[in-house]
Amino acid sequence: MYPICIASLLSLSSLTGTLAYEWPKYSLYSVNPLIGSAGPEPNLSGGMIPSVAPPFGSTRWVAQNQNSYVSATPFNYTESYMNNGTIHGFMGTRQPAIWMGESAWAAIVPGISSGSEGDIKAGFEERGLPKAAGTEKFGVGLYSVELAIPDSGGSTVHVSMSASSRVGHFLFTFNQGSESEYQPYIFLPTTRAATIFHNPNIFDITYPNGTVHIFPLTSEICGSNTEMQDFILAPNSIKDAANHFTGWYCAIFDTSFNDTGYGVTVGSGDSTMRTEWADSGSGEELGAYARFRFPSSSGTQNNIVTVNVRIATSLISMEQARYNLNANSTNEFGSFNVQETQSATENAWAEKVGRFQVETDGSSDSEEKLAVFLTGVFHAMQYPYEVHEPIPTSLNAQQYYSAYDNAVHEGESYSGYSIWDTYRAEWGLLILLAPERIPGMVRSMLQDYEEGGWLPMWKNIIETNIMVGTHADSLLAEAVLKGFGAGSTEENGLQTTFTTDELTTMWKATWKDASVPPMDDLSVVYSDREEDVDYEVRAGLSTFFEQYATGQGWVANDIHSESVSRTLDYAYDDHAVAVLSTLIPLEIVQENTPKLDEIATEFYANKNASNGYNVTTLLNDRSMANPWTVWNATASSPAVITGGEDIKGFVQAREQNGDWAATTDGFTEGDRWVYSFAYVHDVAELVTRRGGNESFVKSLNEFYDGGWVDFTNEPAHHTPYLYALAGAASYTQERVREIAKSNYNNTPNGLSGNEDCGQMSAWYVFSAMGFYPVNPVSGVYVVGSPFFSSLTVSMPVPPFITPSHSSITSNPYYNSTTNSFDLRISAPGAETKPYVKSLKVNGRVIADGEEPLISHEEIRFGGLIEFEMSDQVENWGGGRGAWVETTSDAGNSSTTYSFSEQSYSSTVP
Ligand SMILES: *[C@@H]1O[C@H](CO)[C@@H](O)[C@H](O)[C@H]1NC(C)=O
Ligand SMILES: *[C@@H]1O[C@H](CO)[C@@H](O)[C@H](O)[C@H]1NC(C)=O
Ligand SMILES: *[C@@H]1O[C@H](CO)[C@@H](O)[C@H](O)[C@H]1NC(C)=O
Ligand SMILES: *[C@@H]1O[C@H](CO)[C@@H](O)[C@H](O)[C@H]1NC(C)=O
Ligand SMILES: *[C@@H]1O[C@H](CO)[C@@H](O)[C@H](O)[C@H]1NC(C)=O
Ligand SMILES: *[C@@H]1O[C@H](CO)[C@@H](O)[C@H](O)[C@H]1NC(C)=O
Ligand SMILES: *[C@@H]1O[C@H](CO)[C@@H](O)[C@H](O)[C@H]1NC(C)=O
Ligand SMILES: *[C@@H]1O[C@H](CO)[C@@H](O)[C@H](O)[C@H]1NC(C)=O
Repeated sequence: MYPICIASLLSLSSLTGTLAYEWPKYSLYSVNPLIGSAGPEPNLSGGMIPSVAPPFGSTRWVAQNQNSYVSATPFNYTESYMNNGTIHGFMGTRQPAIWMGESAWAAIVPGISSGSEGDIKAGFEERGLPKAAGTEKFGVGLYSVELAIPDSGGSTVHVSMSASSRVGHFLFTFNQGSESEYQPYIFLPTTRAATIFHNPNIFDITYPNGTVHIFPLTSEICGSNTEMQDFILAPNSIKDAANHFTGWYCAIFDTSFNDTGYGVTVGSGDSTMRTEWADSGSGEELGAYARFRFPSSSGTQNNIVTVNVRIATSLISMEQARYNLNANSTNEFGSFNVQETQSATENAWAEKVGRFQVETDGSSDSEEKLAVFLTGVFHAMQYPYEVHEPIPTSLNAQQYYSAYDNAVHEGESYSGYSIWDTYRAEWGLLILLAPERIPGMVRSMLQDYEEGGWLPMWKNIIETNIMVGTHADSLLAEAVLKGFGAGSTEENGLQTTFTTDELTTMWKATWKDASVPPMDDLSVVYSDREEDVDYEVRAGLSTFFEQYATGQGWVANDIHSESVSRTLDYAYDDHAVAVLSTLIPLEIVQENTPKLDEIATEFYANKNASNGYNVTTLLNDRSMANPWTVWNATASSPAVITGGEDIKGFVQAREQNGDWAATTDGFTEGDRWVYSFAYVHDVAELVTRRGGNESFVKSLNEFYDGGWVDFTNEPAHHTPYLYALAGAASYTQERVREIAKSNYNNTPNGLSGNEDCGQMSAWYVFSAMGFYPVNPVSGVYVVGSPFFSSLTVSMPVPPFITPSHSSITSNPYYNSTTNSFDLRISAPGAETKPYVKSLKVNGRVIADGEEPLISHEEIRFGGLIEFEMSDQVENWGGGRGAWVETTSDAGNSSTTYSFSEQSYSSTVP
């Protein structure tokens, strides 16, 4: 049997370990929260907001300048906003990405109006307040601004905003203008007209219901609303639970309003109904307010009222929201001093961003690169976000509301899983930088499976069926491969992270992905954002099963959307489950693989499988065979830029009967060009099918220089690294630098595509370190071109390492001051020298003719990566092409590099 671990103790000890050292905050000044908050249209924007919250914070607080819904975040940077914009309140948002819906938000708006019972501006437009020029400041732990109150004799309000995970913290300083009749109020919008997005382009207005409760004696206002914009995407089998969804907030004020006034509003604009002194209300377009009084009755300068407000959110109940206001166990300090909240949130960010020590050579754009890099870390450490809440009276125990079964459960839970994006590099970065979160994030996925029947695809409070593939398989395989899981014993200083039951659930859930098609798989399309369908999972799996029997093995284009993308993604997922099957204890796998023979018979029919198969070999065979059923070897495209012979061999969609479909059919976020490179677990075969290293590299050059690349979407992310796997690493080095320059910069337009819960930034962070996880479950990184002369990352000690493990007791890269593994990446001159001349990893020389790979094993406990950089193309990694025979100037010696086209192994090292 496997040792049972005590999850909460593990994470507690790792948390106290990381909190013991106070990480320096200076790196936070390089973070620019505005990066990715602008764009000409939602597709070409990062979809990020300059929000204040700690890493993985439950609710992110932001100055609101537009309403939030699918395709619009609550903040959109524009020049006119910056010059002379208005702020319509401050919102605690849970919208995780620009194409996802908002849910369970909370908001707070200051105002000043005439008389002791003056107007309350409840509507979104009318409550907008112009910013005083030059006063707006964006930080990771504090946002501040000064707002003018129109038509109030020159009154103003200064706002300081900070936040912990579940609590927004505000300090409002109202300053009365020349006229004494004006008095301040604070308004809490509670329900609103919500915009629901139906594909393709229909925006529907709905009116969620809600409640408010005002407690004048304790200076509290609490409320609830039922808004969850993505409920329309919930799979049929869990849809009912979404009907019960409610978000709560509870605000506490440090200034009494019992005598100065409070009340409830319904409606907006001229039709606002205001009930003064009401202490509760319910309905649509609902709000509550508290009034305050300036101390002096005559309008004088410096007639000031300050009000501190803390506003907690909850998905569980009003009482829980109230508890969250003060719960110590989750760093919600209960302080009315906004600087304390700011300081705690900055410390939490320093614990992530401050782990990087970067030294540049000071060349012109190195500060810019550093800002993009550290902001990338800041973006990558926001999602998935925690939705668990502390259990009252129980030390350090958590509970969470599940929209999958409309119940409250014990444990940790996370939301904001954009897995089709994040399985590529974001998850690998989380494993390096936030290992203390991995067990909770994994358990959260297992709970989704137990409560809803499947692992998540794109969880935004509920499953939304967005994008394709069951890449949670990859997340689980990568986590277990990198140490979170089974196979370790207490004697050698390692602890098993997951219990036998959890490992069993993990296996059952991933095998279900690989073996059970969705409901009505032969008739439902499962198109993007299709409503009123069940869990999409691997739509088309029914036909994908049958490789040898009928010549099928692809997802039929005449049944399902995005058929080529699905075929390739399912093949990769099969590969990931195959990897996982070798890491989970054998008896768990063997006892929990129903229908194996049936599926194997279908797959191996007409083929002699008598030498036996098991689940690992079946999935490996399927993952290697099926993706090539959509490879059309004769399809071609002219070599417009590179010249000579046409580029041959492209992926192409196929109908159920085997016919080839149009070359433009069957893709999501890409086309046949980029998807023809989507064989990360079988690069060697891809190179062969494109005619060997030289013509493969030519096809990559045509892809880049012929204008086929679109880096704003994820399928292109690994492609620059493919050169290095075909013996032409110098092209990888150039392309990575070009991509970094043209798709990232230190401005609000600084992300060329949607951040997608950290994947855009994770690409940059890995690339800047000089390596990238092309195949995330291989345990191998492909070397690129580091951006900085010197970079040290102090990686947290993962929770499965105990103090007696050799990585702590006898490891020169273990730093006991910070309790971290230091990985030092030295690349003098890298800022201006993109090419690699030589490389050593912990003293291991990677010679010119060797494949440029670094294993996770080599760096997981820290280490030393020494690059020698150059400003000209070098032979290292094959240079311009390992197939080229290079002759020295003297003409008397020659070296031939030959990369084995089989050597990039996707099997576990
Ligand atoms: C932001 O607002 C501008 C001006 O209205 C608009 O052109 C742009 O598309 C918006 N950006 C996003 C990402 O919605
Ligand atoms: C700023 O915008 C307001 C409306 O929000 C307008 O009344 C004012 O004239 C503008 N000021 C400048 C300097 O553009
Ligand atoms: C709105 O919520 C209140 C309080 O829960 C309830 O009494 C009322 O019936 C609800 N209204 C609608 C339209 O559901
Ligand atoms: C609250 O207000 C009511 C009515 O104005 C008043 O009677 C009561 O004394 C106040 N209580 C406190 C604690 O201020
Ligand atoms: C939080 O901690 C403080 C000081 O340790 C203690 O006084 C207070 O009671 C705690 N609050 C809660 C809600 O546990
Ligand atoms: C599958 O077969 C291989 C080779 O015989 C063996 O090493 C492996 O343990 C088997 N795996 C399972 C899950 O049965
Ligand atoms: C490739 O696709 C074309 C149609 O686009 C088709 O005519 C041809 O037969 C396909 N090639 C192979 C090898 O099947
Ligand atoms: C440990 O890390 C701290 C903080 O980065 C650093 O100041 C110190 O020099 C490191 N210690 C060793 C032995 O490297």
